[in-house]
Amino acid sequence: MNALQKRFNDWKNGLLVYKFALDEIDTKLSILSEEFEFIHNHNPMEHVKSRLKEPNSIMDKLKRKGLEVTLFNAREHVRDIAGVRVTCSFVADIYKVYHMLSKQDDIKVLEVKDYINYPKPNGYRSFHLIVEVPVFLASSTERVPVEIQIRTIAMDTWASLEHKIFYKYDQEIPEELKDELKQAADTVRALDDKMESIHTRVEKEKHKVTPTILK
Ligand code: GTP
Ligand code: MG
Repeated sequence: MNALQKRFNDWKNGLLVYKFALDEIDTKLSILSEEFEFIHNHNPMEHVKSRLKEPNSIMDKLKRKGLEVTLFNAREHVRDIAGVRVTCSFVADIYKVYHMLSKQDDIKVLEVKDYINYPKPNGYRSFHLIVEVPVFLASSTERVPVEIQIRTIAMDTWASLEHKIFYKYDQEIPEELKDELKQAADTVRALDDKMESIHTRVEKEKHKVTPTILK
């Protein structure tokens, strides 16, 4: 085996635990989702999508950070190798998912970024957390970081569009478009608020019990 092949294999093996960590989180989310649906008759998670960062993107990120491209540095400094995105219908569901997940014994929350209560200046809103999950291997247990982004469908639509525009203009969006994106983000916020209040009202109605005698 030549040196390049060996390096490729080392990376492939080193990144395998991230795939297992994603499987762990996927399972946790699907259990929570099913249980929640069973109890509350409503699913807080509309959609769950996971992805592994490609070795090339990991290497680019290390270079951007001015670090030597080694597997050790990747594991040490790139915490979004394993990524999961959860889309919810309502803002309140985002925090429910966060609490249900973070209180599990084997999950350690390493970082929380609440861009919902504290949006980025460009209007970006989403709830980010980095958790560490144990992966049990044949002869060792590894604690692996996973980045989880939780947002509403509306926030997700905004973020995808902004992401496309960002790359189309090679990361420098024209001022006029920036303003329009910010306005769109405000509209998304208003829409999320409206949807939430309608949902809360409907839920209250559902739980009002009409005495049989009055029916
Ligand atoms: P990265 O080095 O880009 O990973 O950022 P970070 O480590 O400072 O973490 P942060 O939580 O700010 O961002 C993590 C991820 O969220 C990014 O890789 C994007 O996928 C997403 N994200 C953050 N900010 C924006 C934004 O302004 N627009 C969009 N579309 N996505 C964003
Ligand atoms: Mg990141």
